[in-house]
Amino acid sequence: MKPRKDLLDIASLTDEEIEFVLSNAVPFKDLFKRSVKKVPTLRGRSVLTLFYEPSTRTRSSFEVAANRLSADVTNFDVESSSVVKGESVVDTVETLEAMRVDYIVVRHKQSGTPNLIARSTRASVINAGDGWHAHPTQALLDAFTLREKLKDIRGARVVIVGDIQHSRVARSTSLLLRRLGAQVAYLAPGSLMPRDLPPDVTTFHSWDDVLTNFRPDVVYLLRVQMERQGEQFFPSLGEYHKLFGLTDARLQVLRERKLWLMHPGPVNRGVEITDAGMNYERSLINEQVENGIAVRMSVLYWLRPGAE
Ligand code: CP
Repeated sequence: MKPRKDLLDIASLTDEEIEFVLSNAVPFKDLFKRSVKKVPTLRGRSVLTLFYEPSTRTRSSFEVAANRLSADVTNFDVESSSVVKGESVVDTVETLEAMRVDYIVVRHKQSGTPNLIARSTRASVINAGDGWHAHPTQALLDAFTLREKLKDIRGARVVIVGDIQHSRVARSTSLLLRRLGAQVAYLAPGSLMPRDLPPDVTTFHSWDDVLTNFRPDVVYLLRVQMERQGEQFFPSLGEYHKLFGLTDARLQVLRERKLWLMHPGPVNRGVEITDAGMNYERSLINEQVENGIAVRMSVLYWLRPGAE
């Protein structure tokens, strides 16, 4: 396998690379059961997290992953940096480059920013979410989580529910699951369904229809992006919950059919999911978080700073 410097999206990965990351995450996860969870793999290496957008899971997960590999971790605090004085991304990265960090984990609201950074640094750049474009480590941890439960993703039926149009998670996870042989459907209001749909994805606009005609094994809920509420993609949050949320009545169907439930977080209780949904016995939400650390350890282990 050719050494790779950056992880920017799912589309550019080979099947061999996907398999390498997913299979190496297994022994990393086994470490979590030990009293000492740390290995010396990246001792002497440095990881910088550069988040221009908020994050709870991804940022802390990378931090824990890097610590468990014995790397030194620095969180670049955008809010208290010269970025607020107008310093550009390129100038910020040039400064960081002079510090000779080995890995830069970046999140930015502008699609393509991680690619731009990757071209101007020898450090390995990992895209932790850029605009609507991609969130590759979320997709990898989702695939890892499903593989743990289903053993083989081939033939699994996964419906992704909610704001597909603005979701980098939907784009990356859908692409990866389809590459691994899953059948993927989207359930969303017309206003939140992308126009450029992949030909192998089926679309639905009602729960009844998707439950009757697609018969999913896995329901993957997306976060309603509250920051877009000014844009009126649906009449109200209450209306959204009624038509597209996992209500307690729909949860009952999931329970009867033993369907798996996933969500990338953060969740909006009472909107896309209820308290009962959060406590559902086949919810994989917490496992997604735990697996995120193992998968990110595997990604850090795989990438080669300075590779061509
Ligand atoms: N899933 C995810 O990206 O969560 P955060 O925004 O908390 O990182």
